[in-house]
Amino acid sequence: MKLTLMNSYQMQNNKKKVSINSVSKLYENSEILHDINMEIYEGEFVSILGPSGCGKSTIFNMITGLTGTDGGNIEVDGKSSYMYQNDLLLPYKNIIDNVSLPLILRKEKRAEAREVVKPLFSEFGIDGYEYKYPDELSGGMRQRANFLRTYINSDDIMLLDEPFGSLDSITRASMQQWLVDVKEKVNSTILLITHDIDEALMLSDRIYVLSGHPAEIKRTIVVDKDDDASKNQKIKKEILELLKNN
Ligand SMILES: Nc1ncnc2c1ncn2[C@@H]1O[C@H](COP(=O)(O)OP(=O)(O)OP(=O)(O)O)[C@@H](O)[C@H]1O
Ligand SMILES: [Mg+2]
Repeated sequence: MKLTLMNSYQMQNNKKKVSINSVSKLYENSEILHDINMEIYEGEFVSILGPSGCGKSTIFNMITGLTGTDGGNIEVDGKSSYMYQNDLLLPYKNIIDNVSLPLILRKEKRAEAREVVKPLFSEFGIDGYEYKYPDELSGGMRQRANFLRTYINSDDIMLLDEPFGSLDSITRASMQQWLVDVKEKVNSTILLITHDIDEALMLSDRIYVLSGHPAEIKRTIVVDKDDDASKNQKIKKEILELLKNN
């Protein structure tokens, strides 16, 4: 593990896309999140790792304004879009119209929206599936379509809540690699929620490790992609210890 808490995104003075400043959140008089501070810089891939039920999705709900904070504040520079764990593709619409939905909601005409999204199908590895329906696609393909729709909704900040949670381990591994490749192409800022330490280490520039009840940030880990397997193993063990001692 690096001693520094800075990575190149922070040091190059990239813009802050999301700042969460001393945020707390209560549900039914019980504190769920306590004094949470997070910063996500432009182009950065940041993961939030924490035990089940600790309040990870609540953080996304506060970033998008679905729910308020009970202390502190959140600043967002740009537009964020939220990809839920379940794909939520509409079963009665074909894939291209599902993906076009954010544009249709912004009052674009269907034919024009289709023209905008069509070239992205090959970028996202789902060309040929435009006129299929969600139930004709595999789980992995549906998640690609879901991810493309999230991207159409905002190429600025993407909030991914356990996007691979429902996939089998082989599909999951290929989707993780796929996300690395897509991220390089589209260069957006990504905030990812996961329970999976390997996933966080593989994908992230930085990881926030949360505790449970109330959740606090236990550690910020700067991931060095050049670390060898034994160093990664060491970091993984350390994160496991942090999560165990909740
Ligand atoms: N609208 C709500 N009203 C009351 N309690 C809520 C509400 N939303 C979430 N909670 C509670 O807040 C806590 C955190 O929930 P949240 O969904 O943010 O956790 P999470 O870390 O995303 O969990 P998981 O890993 O299972 O997805 C839970 O105890 C949950 O029951
Ligand atoms: Mg959740």
